[in-house]
Amino acid sequence: MDSNPKLAVSETRNAIRHAGINPNHWYPVGWSEAFRPAKPVPVTVWNQTIAVFRASDGSLHALEDACLHKGVALHKGTVAGDRIVCAYHGWEFDGLGRCVRIPYLPEGRKCPSARVRAFPVREGHGIVWLFPGDPALADGADLPAVPEYGDPNWLMIRIPGHFRAHFSICNENTMDVFHGHLHKDLQGWFDPILTKLDREEGRVVAEYQVTYRSRLAKLLGLAKSSTETCQRTVSIDYTYPHYRNHMERISALYLMRLPVGPAETRSFSLMFLKPGLPGWLWRPLRRPLSVLLWRLLLKRFLDQDKGMMESEQATFADDPGAVRVEINPAIVALRRVTVAQDHCSVTTDNLLAPQAAS
Ligand code: FES
Ligand SMILES: [Fe+2]
Repeated sequence: MDSNPKLAVSETRNAIRHAGINPNHWYPVGWSEAFRPAKPVPVTVWNQTIAVFRASDGSLHALEDACLHKGVALHKGTVAGDRIVCAYHGWEFDGLGRCVRIPYLPEGRKCPSARVRAFPVREGHGIVWLFPGDPALADGADLPAVPEYGDPNWLMIRIPGHFRAHFSICNENTMDVFHGHLHKDLQGWFDPILTKLDREEGRVVAEYQVTYRSRLAKLLGLAKSSTETCQRTVSIDYTYPHYRNHMERISALYLMRLPVGPAETRSFSLMFLKPGLPGWLWRPLRRPLSVLLWRLLLKRFLDQDKGMMESEQATFADDPGAVRVEINPAIVALRRVTVAQDHCSVTTDNLLAPQAAS
């Protein structure tokens, strides 16, 4: 851990915004309840569309969203038992992508042996996850651990995000605690200081000291009172490709990122709070309270962030070669992780110009 890291000027050519993903990780594709039996759901992971379906026994399966016959999108079909049935001619495929029935195949003839590509799929923390890379590596990769999930001492708030921006722009927004300025009308935080920075392979951990003084901070359990100035330590832990952030033992945020394509990103986040109210008061109301906090408060923060991220993407699209300047070393470290994990052909030489300390 680098104590007292210095802010320093770093010029970046925006080619970072062309970085691809490392597909050999689990990516979130939707909340569990969106995957009901009988109706396949199309999801997109880095431009690859995949039909996810829930069999009648509750198990999940994921196939490339293109029928083996003529390429029609399989999500347009239906589910029968443990098979997906193509909408066009009714060919049936099992969860491994094998063609197991063609309704008009003459007796004695065999279905083709070619398969539709199947993807490993899992369910955890109320989220469905896909592994778009080498299936042989899926079992050795873990979903992010979320120890607070299901713990009655925490109020869990689900936060969906959808941004017309490259995932690196979205990830930088999360690592960047210096943008409290954007949220000042929402009683956000102020006077952040980067106190520590730790970089290792595939991971960046930054600690910031932030200051709160507001009724909102008191309500969310972040400050002891609404009038006192209160300093807290926020730890932002990016372990590719997701975030696990926490503020001491007061709140936690698990931000799971889905790169949909080069200019589109989704996120499925779980926030955990200990409200500044007695447990007997809030526990029976946890569900409506959680929805209310999301709709009336957290969504307003996120909408402000979304405006900035999408503006950043739009100016990049207008002038992809423009040089931008960053002074937060945590952001620079994050970019290096992104580049190192990129399985596409972009080289680091193109991405990061030499740094000059100021
Ligand atoms: S295109 Fe799917 S069955 Fe013909
Ligand atoms: Fe923000």
